[in-house]
Amino acid sequence: MNHFEIKDGVLHAEDCAVDAIARSVGTPVYIYSEATLRRHYRVFSQALGAHQVLIGPSGAKPLVAYAVKANSNLSVLKILGSEGAGADTVSEGEIRRALSAGIDPLKIIFSGVGKTNSELDYALKAAIGQFNVESESELFRLSQRAEALGVIATVTLRINPKIGAGGHAKITTGGEGDKFGLTPKDALRLYGQALPHIEMCGLSCHIGSQITDLSPLRATYMLMKGWVEQLRGEGHRVDRLDLGGGLGVPYFQSADPPHPTEFAQMVAEVMGGPNGGLGLDLIFEPGRLIAANAGILVSEVVSIHHRPNSGPSFLVVDAAMNDLLRPALYEAFHEIRPVCPQTDAVTCVYDVVGPVCETGDTFARNRALPQAKMGDLLAFMTAGAYGAVMSSEYNTRPLVPEILVSGANWTQIRKRPSYEDIFAREPIANWLETKSNSR
Ligand code: LLP
Repeated sequence: MNHFEIKDGVLHAEDCAVDAIARSVGTPVYIYSEATLRRHYRVFSQALGAHQVLIGPSGAKPLVAYAVKANSNLSVLKILGSEGAGADTVSEGEIRRALSAGIDPLKIIFSGVGKTNSELDYALKAAIGQFNVESESELFRLSQRAEALGVIATVTLRINPKIGAGGHAKITTGGEGDKFGLTPKDALRLYGQALPHIEMCGLSCHIGSQITDLSPLRATYMLMKGWVEQLRGEGHRVDRLDLGGGLGVPYFQSADPPHPTEFAQMVAEVMGGPNGGLGLDLIFEPGRLIAANAGILVSEVVSIHHRPNSGPSFLVVDAAMNDLLRPALYEAFHEIRPVCPQTDAVTCVYDVVGPVCETGDTFARNRALPQAKMGDLLAFMTAGAYGAVMSSEYNTRPLVPEILVSGANWTQIRKRPSYEDIFAREPIANWLETKSNSR
């Protein structure tokens, strides 16, 4: 459930009319609902917390380490941090964001296949709670860096279970050919390595994103459980299991991905057993599930091009692939809704496109929408995750601003840069300044 609804004929984000925000800030603009972010976090964490077998030995409920990459805006992190979320991060920048939003370092996890030495040093000095190590060389590098700094790194080994899943081949991460994680064999061998500055505490996995069927997750978790039991059988201590993120969301109204309660039930079935749970502290890294349906991208119709032949008209909007990349990159579907729907509008079929100079800048083909006119506002729904974070200034289109709504209040949480701001980042090479332009 989200808080974007038509009230009095206008799409509202909670109690704020979307057209009023768009007219005030300009378009394109992302709008997020604080109540939806909080709701999604709570539904997920309470679903897991409801199962006794998922409670860790210390009595701790599973840690929900929000995947910062989905939407890393500082206000979003602050909201989730205040709910008790940890942070799954993949760069020094994301760790800095999580820390600056006040998230407890012990709840910060550092994932990723290419952690640099300086990023490892930064994370070690910040005393984050967990490194998800993805390769043998990374493990030895981390050990050396920790030794040099005189600290201990708490580590899980990320296993690639050879089960890939997800909404698109480009976002599948657990398949055999995917770059992520250690083979099970290598992970089990490395787990026992006695490295003085490494505290090996468990295993981790993440098989993909926008997963709408529980079976690949169930199969993966069964394997993970088996590996924990194998390691324990060999006398190793295993305290934690990080089961990653990946649970899908409904991008269109008839979509019916598994609800968090069904997901939690499945995890409890896998992790439970005749003697209760495995006595593990569990960690989950949802990103999309929390943020996707908490945000929309609002855009204005700037032009309608009728085709000479019978094809659909082009509806040209002022948002483009630089603002919302998912359709261009993954052919992703985003529902498009008029912000001020007319009850008597006829339906037309459009190709909805942005102004960027490439054909890939297409949001939707053959989309049936109420007849539009120039100046109409359209909302791209389910855009709160992997939307603004993947935006760029391609075509020198200023970075899209972000608005946070809370009840009847709203505020800018990322500003649209001015052209001066953009140019100030690009000092002209001094030797070019001195030469005359008279060629
Ligand atoms: N943990 C790890 C290690 C990850 O790599 C990811 C996402 C997550 C957790 C969170 O997954 P989620 O719960 O959000 O599915 N840009 C793509 C999605 C890329 C996901 C990358 N990894 C998109 O727009 O669909």
